Amino acid sequence: MSLAHTFTAIFSGNPEIVCEAPGRVNLIGEHVDYCDGFVMPFAISDRTYAAIKRRPDRKIRMSSMQRPNEIFETSLDDLQPSGEGNWERYICGVIWAFGERITDGLEILVDGHVALGAGLSSSAALECSVAFGLDQLFETGFSLAQLAKLAQRAENDFVGMPCGIMDQSVSLMAQAGNALLLDCRDLSTEQIPLDLASAGLELLIIDTQAHHTLVDGGYAERRASCESAAEKLGIKALRDCSITQLEDSRNKLTELEYMRAEHIVNDIKRVHECVDRLKNNDFITVGQILTKSHASLRDLFEISCPELNLAVDTALENNSLGGRMIGGGFGGSAIALFKVADIDQAKRAIAAAFKEAGYTEPRFFTSLPSAGAKVTI
Ligand code: GLA
Repeated sequence: MSLAHTFTAIFSGNPEIVCEAPGRVNLIGEHVDYCDGFVMPFAISDRTYAAIKRRPDRKIRMSSMQRPNEIFETSLDDLQPSGEGNWERYICGVIWAFGERITDGLEILVDGHVALGAGLSSSAALECSVAFGLDQLFETGFSLAQLAKLAQRAENDFVGMPCGIMDQSVSLMAQAGNALLLDCRDLSTEQIPLDLASAGLELLIIDTQAHHTLVDGGYAERRASCESAAEKLGIKALRDCSITQLEDSRNKLTELEYMRAEHIVNDIKRVHECVDRLKNNDFITVGQILTKSHASLRDLFEISCPELNLAVDTALENNSLGGRMIGGGFGGSAIALFKVADIDQAKRAIAAAFKEAGYTEPRFFTSLPSAGAKVTI
């Protein structure tokens, strides 16, 4: 059944609005968003849809196409941040972050098509589909950057995940055909054309299906190290540090802080190099930059895992121009750039390597750079 039909079957009446927001792949600039750095993600074609209707009272009722038999109920007056719950927390968090601008109760049905736990930001897609819809319905007039901050606040302060601003920004601001160069300090953007097909190339997304338990604690710990390094260096964020400055101040940092900071400073530099090389259609160097980023995430930031390393290494052994793990780390997806003609063989080789290692079978995706959040027609 379609989203609108299911909505009517679960709640009475039709939705007033249906909005959608995509997941993302981050091309380059990993874990640098909370260091005020630059990132270059693009939106994938998979997205989450949110059908919304206002109610005459203050009740909130929500359901998901993935669990249509569960209806979660609360009220505008009962929204309290808590570590408890499931998918509904992300929606409650967004409503909470809008505060008194939301004056009516709500009925919300979501339909998520972004693979869960694959490091493709299904949570940002969910938050942004709802945030975009509420902004339209209640005519709050927020800019996309303001909406991104609002959705980030929902995740930081309501759900309790100390994420940066990248995922929500790209989910809202992406444009089809482009990667989004985002300055995470002031949220200014530049759309960078990403036309791999014209060069006979494709970016393979490899979902390793691995989910290591370190995810939450490991992420927060990396963020804390970067923040303490910046403080010891007397700067606002690691974005304000060059590699020479970092080397000159080595004695101010612990060994671990130095490793983390070295990754951040170099990965921000790699983002700018990558933009430059993309503008020159130099995909060979783009591939090399991705592979260097992977080594840095693996060895300095220490957030890769055996499955991600195997995916990247096997891709490289099978003619990939370059690849790396993406997202928060400790599992999820990797990307690898290929000539279209080489992709099928590489997929077979990666699947075989996973089988041999006794890992869960990986899933493969590809996606063109797609549009950000919008009202679904
Ligand atoms: C997660 C977070 C983002 C970002 C990435 C790593 O996806 O939500 O804010 O920090 O990890 O780059």
